[in-house]
Amino acid sequence: MTRSCLSIILAAGEGTRMRSGMSKVLHPVAGLPLVGHVADAAAAAGADAMAVVTGRDSEAVERFVAARFPAASFHRQIERLGTAHAVLAARDAIAQGYDDLLVLFGDTPLLTADTLRTARALLGTGAGVVVLGFHTQRPEGYGRLIVADGQLHAIREEKDASQAERAITFCNGGVMVLDGRRVAPLLDAIGNDNAKGEYYLTDIVALARQAGHGVVALEADASELVGVNTRVELAEVEAAWQARQRRQAMLGGATMIDPSSVFLAHDTVLDADCVIEPNVVFGPGVRIGTGAVIHAFCHLEGVTIAEDCAVGPFARLRPGTQLGQGAKVGNFCETKNAEVEAGAKINHLSYIGDARVGAGANIGAGTITCNYDGALKHHTDIGSGAFVGSNSSLVAPVRIGDGAYVASGSVVTEDVPPDAMAIARGRQVNKDGYGRTVRERNAAAKAARSGKA
Ligand code: UD1
Ligand code: CA
Repeated sequence: MTRSCLSIILAAGEGTRMRSGMSKVLHPVAGLPLVGHVADAAAAAGADAMAVVTGRDSEAVERFVAARFPAASFHRQIERLGTAHAVLAARDAIAQGYDDLLVLFGDTPLLTADTLRTARALLGTGAGVVVLGFHTQRPEGYGRLIVADGQLHAIREEKDASQAERAITFCNGGVMVLDGRRVAPLLDAIGNDNAKGEYYLTDIVALARQAGHGVVALEADASELVGVNTRVELAEVEAAWQARQRRQAMLGGATMIDPSSVFLAHDTVLDADCVIEPNVVFGPGVRIGTGAVIHAFCHLEGVTIAEDCAVGPFARLRPGTQLGQGAKVGNFCETKNAEVEAGAKINHLSYIGDARVGAGANIGAGTITCNYDGALKHHTDIGSGAFVGSNSSLVAPVRIGDGAYVASGSVVTEDVPPDAMAIARGRQVNKDGYGRTVRERNAAAKAARSGKA
């Protein structure tokens, strides 16, 4: 039987060490706010409800979470009186009655759903409280886990710990999984008689033991539990996240020649047998199909690339770009809101925006869709098999019919019928001997001037 599960995400942190006008938990890793990573992990671990406890900058945090998880509930902790006090800010949500409560911190984006699932499974075997712990040679600042006979007896916060307890290197990672049917009264029993005068969530361990519940410390990888307090740590966590996801992508069948120079977004999808060359940056919303090659130095965001396409080197593909099977976008090209159909080629120095490029069409070097008239954006439609000569300007709204030709250097302002040829440029005139005339006149003028000097 599946157990109902509420995740409680504490996001009331002051985050002053970020030196930011924005709440700490909204700072992004891989293009997604920290709290988004935590919420995604909770949801992936089966949490069917989410309660977010906010403090500073509540509204911006609430707006972000609500957009991603419309059913989330929000609870404000006005005074910051400790982690148990923060959890109890979500009292209304807890009172709905859940089998499992996941208590998570909003600033630990490396926590995985797998670890949370393992912790939940332990509750399923009868424990009342599961605490995620980690071993470290530098335990300073963390709560120490006091374990005997395989059971966790208590958590002692650094400031309240004895000399002997401070020597313990097994620490509280902050994540707790609680039996929602049994621990609710224990949360209310937590007091604030300690060195900090705070309501410590960690006191629930000793209280649960006294009430006869099983309490377990589950060892997790320390790297999953690191929190972000400064921008230096933000960058470290980003690096760790990237390393982990590159590895996943490669194990999933994507080739990376120099993985350390490829930057993934939280939702990048790389299908098997694609090749990502060095120095490629993926913004959010990218999917790369099987067999596609992204050459060096490309930036892609909000794009879907079908099988066997080639992109770059040095291409920028902006949101709304879709490449059909085998399409090519070459060096120094920019695309935006562009549907490029199968086999079409945009090989050199082009801007294609707000456009469709039909199957098999060839867009010559330097072609520009003039999509913006200073007020509005307009659409360009290029038919299948069309050939647009180099250095053409297509002034939208305009349609180039299937199989039509556009002569090089044209400024196309009117629709071109299918299979027609458009030539829209000054006609060439050759004046015999006039090149020599100009050269001689210039030489004479130069001599006259140097004679004067
Ligand atoms: C806490 C744990 C400690 C653990 C460490 C792991 C307690 C008492 N201690 O200590 O055992 O080793 O995390 O990082 O739980 N928060 C609120 N409201 C509050 C207080 C805290 O929302 O009133 C949130 C913070 O924003 C943060 C989290 O709870 O996300 C932890 O609070 P923090 O003050 O950083 O606890 P630590 O002293 O680090
Ligand atoms: Ca902390």
